[in-house]
Parts: sequence; C-alpha cells; structure tokens
Amino acid sequence: MTDPLIDPFQRAISYLRVSVTDRCDFRCVYCMSEKMQFLPKKELLTLEELDRMCSTFVRLGVRKLRITGGEPLVRRDIMEFFRGMSRHLESGDLHEITLTTNGSQLHRFAKDLYAAGVRRVNISLDTLDEAKFARVTRWGRLPQVLKGIDAALEAGLKVKINTVALKGFNEDELFTLTEWCASRGMDLTFIEVMPMGDLGNEDRVGQYWSLHDLRSDLAKRYTLHDIPLRTGGPARYVRVGETRQTVGFITPLTHNFCESCNRVRLTCTGELYMCLGQEDMADLRAPLRDSDDDALLENAIRKAISLKPKGHDFDYSRARPDGQMTRHMSHTGG
Ligand code: 5AD
Ligand code: SF4
Repeated sequence: MTDPLIDPFQRAISYLRVSVTDRCDFRCVYCMSEKMQFLPKKELLTLEELDRMCSTFVRLGVRKLRITGGEPLVRRDIMEFFRGMSRHLESGDLHEITLTTNGSQLHRFAKDLYAAGVRRVNISLDTLDEAKFARVTRWGRLPQVLKGIDAALEAGLKVKINTVALKGFNEDELFTLTEWCASRGMDLTFIEVMPMGDLGNEDRVGQYWSLHDLRSDLAKRYTLHDIPLRTGGPARYVRVGETRQTVGFITPLTHNFCESCNRVRLTCTGELYMCLGQEDMADLRAPLRDSDDDALLENAIRKAISLKPKGHDFDYSRARPDGQMTRHMSHTGG
C-alpha cells in the first residue's frame, strides 16, 4: 500500500484537475486576451505523459479527475487519453472523471466520452443571447454550443452549466438561465468573476457582480434551501424549491474555503499548482522525463504536496489588486 497524499494541514488530496491544453477555440474576455500566445507543442506533456502523470496520482490516492484547458476537446486525439483513463474507473481506483468544456466540440465527442466512462460534464455558458454570446466569447457561436449541450444530454451525460456572473451583462438573464436549465434537468453554478484575462480593459462586457447580490435576486422569485453538499471546493449549493434543481455559487474572492481544500492543479506543461490563488508550483515534467521509473515522479509529487499552502491571497478590498494572478485561467484550468 502506498501512503495517501496528506498536506501539512491534514487535508487529503483526492482531487486532481488537469489542464490538457492551453489552447481554446474561444477568446472569452475574462479568460484570454484577443491575441494569445500559446505554448510551443514540445512544452506540452504528450498524451502518454499525461497518462503516466494521472496514473501516478491515482496510485497515490487521487479518486477524482477533472479535465480542463483551455478547451480540452480541441487537443488532438484527446479521446485516446479518456479511453486510457477508463481502465482506472474499471479497476475502481478512480471514482470519477469529469471535464469542463465550452461545449463547442461536444456534438462530436459526447457519445465517445460516455463510452469512456464520463458521466458528468460542466459546460460554460454565460448568456442565451446570440449577440451577447459572440461578444463575451469573441470567437464562440451560440448555436454550436447549444447543439453540443443537446448532444451531451442525449448521450446520457449529466450536465451542469457554469455561468460567470457579470454585472450589466447577464444580470437580466438570471431567471431565464435558471429556468432554461431547469427545463432540461441541468444544474447551474454561478461563478464570481476573478481578476484574470482582459477584464480590465473590457468593462463594456461587465463587472464584478457579487454572488451575495445575485443570490438575493434569485430569492425574490424562488424559495432557496441551503444544502450541505460540499465538494471540497469553493462552491456552495442551494436547492431551488420551485424547479427542484441545484444552484451553486462559486465565490473564491469573498469566501474562505481553503480549510476544506482537497485539490491540486496540473498544467498542460506538467507544473503542479498547489493552490489556485498562489504562485507556488512544482515542476513535475522534469522528474517524469528524467526517468522511466515512476519513483522520481512520486517523490516530486509528495514533496510538492508537503508545500501546499494554507490558503489564497485573493482580496478585492485591498487598494492594489494584490491577489491578482499573472497567469491566465487557461494555464491552470480554472
Ligand atoms: N473568472 C471566473 N471564471 C472564469 N473562467 C475563466 N476565466 C474566469 C475568470 N476570470 C471560467 C469559465 C469556465 C471555467 C473553466 O472557468 O467561464 O466556466
Ligand atoms: Fe476558452 Fe473557457 Fe477560456 Fe472561454 S473561458 S476562452 S471557453 S478556456
């Protein structure tokens, strides 16, 4: 038996988020700049290396994998990776593999994802208005994403919609979005916008909309019941009495959720970020490439976990946005 990964604050690390590419076919204003410089291919972990990396984490006690990007489904042959991971689902070592996607390629991959053992997907969607969708994603087209969502539901995947709350942008769609999701049996999670991407110079799209206010607005129309569901992350959930769906609120900036953190993040170049809100990271690509034996990699992972910080530094109340991250969301995968 290998010892599980326990950090210095006695948190067991059972959840790994993996960014498989920094590329995306959209350019959402809060995530990327218009002219993104992407990494050269040789910097990326190959699909075989991603498999070795994830398999090592599973051996060390990771039970849940979330695949992110960028947009994970634009990575060439990514289905090979999903099919590879299904062996860990079958053995029972891995309990779940999920992905976060912008939905643009789901009409092509929904069935294959289900066949590989994926049962849930998070799909990002900030608006149901075609013009607004094009404005916020710059390159995205709403009908293609709606087609992807339909394909996911048809394939039997449970869908959760992720909506970034943007003041003056999707405030007026709060009820429309909620009811549209409810009518399709989809849960909905609102995400407080984080200080990343091009937001600073894109204020025509929207600004910080506190989820405290959003929740009050929601409570004007619906009965909200707090539910104790915790996933070890920053989300808190309510049950909407009238629609029976679960609505989540991700408020990394206003709430401290670090004490229950069970996760770490791997970038597409093999850097392990121990905390979303800290710059500390450990390079796992070198120990992976330096030896065919996984012992070096295992040691590097254990050392990294022993350095996981207690919490993050995001704080809007400071005069200078000290918690501001210099890396883009597409690098660490949200
Ligand atoms: N703030 C909040 N959410 C963001 N996302 C990307 N950038 C930001 C940001 N600056 C979200 C996407 C998607 C998830 C992967 O992360 O909308 O739902
Ligand atoms: Fe792509 Fe998602 Fe970033 Fe939008 S938020 S640019 S869809 S990775």
